[in-house]
Amino acid sequence: MQKTPPATPLVKRLVVIGLGLIGASFAKGIRDLGLAEEVIGVDLNLQACQRAVELGVVDSCSTDLAAACKDADVIMLAVPVLALQTLLSKLAALNLKNTIITDAGSVKGHLLAAAQAAFGKLPPLLVLGHPIAGSERSGVEAANPGLFKHHKVILTPHAHTDPAALACVEQLWQGLGADVESMSVDQHDRVLAATSHLPHLLAFGLVDSLAKRSENLEIFRYAAGGFRDFTRIAGSDPVMWHDIFLANREAVLQQLDQFRGDLDVLRNAIAEEDGRHLLGVFTRARVAREHFSTILAQRAYVETMLDNNLIFLASPGGQVNGSIRVPGDKSISHRAIMLGSLAEGVTEIDGFLEGEDALATIQAFRDMGVVIEGPEKGRVVVHGVGLHGLQAPPGPIYVGNSGTTMRLLSGILAAQNFDTTLTGDASLSKRPMNRIAKPLREMGAVIETAAEGRPPLTLRGGQRLTGMHYAMPMASAQVKSCLLLAGMYASGETSVTEPAPTRDHTERMLRGFGYPVEVNGPTAKIESNHALTATHIEVPADISSAAFFMVAACIAPDSELLLEHIGINPTRTGIIDILKLMGADLSLERIHEVGGELVADIRVRSSRLKGIEIPLELVPLAIDEFPVLFIAAACAEGRTILRGAEELRVKESDRIQVMVDGLTTLGVSAQGTPDGIIIEGGPMGGGEIWAHGDHRIAMSFSVAALRANAAIRIHDSVHVATSFPNFLALCKQVGMHVEPEVHS
Ligand code: S3P
Repeated sequence: MQKTPPATPLVKRLVVIGLGLIGASFAKGIRDLGLAEEVIGVDLNLQACQRAVELGVVDSCSTDLAAACKDADVIMLAVPVLALQTLLSKLAALNLKNTIITDAGSVKGHLLAAAQAAFGKLPPLLVLGHPIAGSERSGVEAANPGLFKHHKVILTPHAHTDPAALACVEQLWQGLGADVESMSVDQHDRVLAATSHLPHLLAFGLVDSLAKRSENLEIFRYAAGGFRDFTRIAGSDPVMWHDIFLANREAVLQQLDQFRGDLDVLRNAIAEEDGRHLLGVFTRARVAREHFSTILAQRAYVETMLDNNLIFLASPGGQVNGSIRVPGDKSISHRAIMLGSLAEGVTEIDGFLEGEDALATIQAFRDMGVVIEGPEKGRVVVHGVGLHGLQAPPGPIYVGNSGTTMRLLSGILAAQNFDTTLTGDASLSKRPMNRIAKPLREMGAVIETAAEGRPPLTLRGGQRLTGMHYAMPMASAQVKSCLLLAGMYASGETSVTEPAPTRDHTERMLRGFGYPVEVNGPTAKIESNHALTATHIEVPADISSAAFFMVAACIAPDSELLLEHIGINPTRTGIIDILKLMGADLSLERIHEVGGELVADIRVRSSRLKGIEIPLELVPLAIDEFPVLFIAAACAEGRTILRGAEELRVKESDRIQVMVDGLTTLGVSAQGTPDGIIIEGGPMGGGEIWAHGDHRIAMSFSVAALRANAAIRIHDSVHVATSFPNFLALCKQVGMHVEPEVHS
């Protein structure tokens, strides 16, 4: 077979001992790519040696270890784990001087001990490694040079491993396309015992257990896909696995004992007909299986698109037509999970927003023992545990980008009898939490924050909260909601007065769950000693997501768009009022009430917008919609002035600065002020924009492209998935030209 010569081979003489699947694939990969000048195979089986040469796996092959290893730069040991001890002793006797020895075995502690015994001390040129790749096929015939591509290889250097030797082995694996990682020998053996050795044991054990029963014929006749999938790995090489279990005995026993305990609990749940326990295990397992990587990172929830380099390429022009339904309301989705979890009974939610932020809330409650089914096409079923039924989570609760989760949850967690730590992503970790920590502390909570009141937050359990009155210094629905939720646990009454109306979904939904809340003008009051009763929640489409398309239809030529079933709670409709003041052709149809919230279809047509001074009282009612309103202002005739919106500086980004920067890049005159912005409408060009991890910034500049005369590339757009996972699909559906452009 022809090899492809590379620019420079990494080593001269590579010896691969053991030409089974792994050894032969390694040899062939290195040889095909020319990563070594010469690849020599060693195998006790003469036939395998001959085939290896015929198949182009190696340049030459020998059964004579000493002759093959003479002058080797690197020796790869790819023999069964239990054969390594003898092999190492033979190698030690050869007195090799500058030869790197590496391996591909599945157990590292055992090999380290064998090397110590063979050499008297650990050789610096010994680099232990383990490729996490394989196949049910074995032998030299199965050699596959691409076997390691995009697979992990774990290197487990010992304390005296020579850095140059380590780098050399790393480069060889990388040359084969593997992703190389390193960890300690102990950690490797523990991790592999759990993720690889235990499942193999179960598969071998289950098949054997069933096969030896008298009714086995019947069992195997009806063995369906599930059985085949589960037991696929029982087709692996028995000798190899026998070696692995004996070599990694301690770690496997530990994992097995732990699993036996969990299996007994499952057995009891079935015996006692404890359906909730079973559902809890199965729903958690399902999510965990879908998101192994986040579980490995010990993070609570799913971050599916965490490629921070995601760029949106918005091409200029386009029209906006048709009729669409944007995803469910984010604020209502969060609250439905929180109250559903704390309710007595089973709450069904429809229209749930399956965005990262709301998923973070689901996972937080799952971590605290709540069984939550779904989401499945917007449907979620929450098995409430009651106000006092939450359990301590297994570790810190990671809430990603979601300020609402962190702030509202804090009100609940401050009153539990266990400690919790809440952490978030880079954007959330910069956001102010003293606004909730301070009043919660006044109620008796014990909360630790990072410097300047930033996340992470640690809330100490076992505190007795006392109700109080709080006059909020800022108009914040999150602060109000946090305190009302804490008020369900605090002795006496808790009341919050807001300086301006903010969204009142918490108050409405608490009532929907049968928990009394008294609202008197700007003050909402709650007392403890009531219960939440499960209910059905229908989440309307999110007006904050619809806002992007409202502005899009206004600024694009020849457009008419119908936005269906939008929540028009009066504390959220600032966007409609402001656009109308700017001259938008926008009308509401089919207004009706669903589950305590008003909804309507909103029709928007191309409009000649004009600049306005935004009335102060509308600011909190449109707080999330300003980024896209600034795009409307840029397309309007004349000047738009916003004041009283200093809160924009502490959202997912400093939305005033980031929008000023972006608009300026596009050639629009925009000037930031401490609490607002002044924008002169005018022509817009294209350019490079940075969204700074803020979903609404990325979507706003996507909309801007409708009127720009060149393409807009929007960097750091990944967080659009937090609130609007199908944004790009809907853009396409209505006639906008925004595409993802992923850069590595
Ligand atoms: C929200 C309240 C608002 C809003 C956020 C969601 C809520 O935040 O910006 O997107 O669900 O309560 P503030 O309370 O900080 O104004």
